[in-house]
Amino acid sequence: MKVLDKEFRVSIPEAEILKQVARVASEINRDYEGESPVFLAVLNGSFMFAADLLREITLPCEIHFVKLASYEGVNSTGKIHEILGLSVDITNRPVIIVEDIVDTGLTMAHMLETLEKHNPKSVNICTLLLKPEKLKVALDIKYRALEIPNDFILGYGLDYDQLGRNTRDIYTVVE
Ligand code: IMP
Repeated sequence: MKVLDKEFRVSIPEAEILKQVARVASEINRDYEGESPVFLAVLNGSFMFAADLLREITLPCEIHFVKLASYEGVNSTGKIHEILGLSVDITNRPVIIVEDIVDTGLTMAHMLETLEKHNPKSVNICTLLLKPEKLKVALDIKYRALEIPNDFILGYGLDYDQLGRNTRDIYTVVE
């Protein structure tokens, strides 16, 4: 598949994604038994993951959508923005961040820092994808569906210059 100037190939098919999403959901269902967590899904990249994850969650829960730092092209910009759209009161509530991908980890580190100011009961990260070799900061990522190598990927919500979010499979750039 060609997107703008780059060629991509399927690297994680839909069936494998959904299997791992269901696994992560069952871990959350187990760990949060008796609780009513607030899921905070980070737009835009996590919209598909959030939809599939929440369909597997059997707990009484809320989901809210927030926006964060932008990501331009194939390199993390390192730009940090505030959390937009956090209209729910998370004081003393268990929060689960739903993120598409943790790359350097800077985005999530910043989000954790900001959320802590609202005094939640707890905050855990649930990411669809993790590039372990690229992590730059110490980050406790409790829930991760898939670990991938450093290559740039798109699909299933993730984009390349805003394109490619609408595929069922995940694609890796062909160098
Ligand atoms: P971090 O702050 O470096 O961890 O970057 C996290 C953000 O970068 C994610 O929320 C994505 O929006 C974006 N990102 C990182 N790697 C990729 C990729 O391979 N494809 C698409 N977006 C990516």
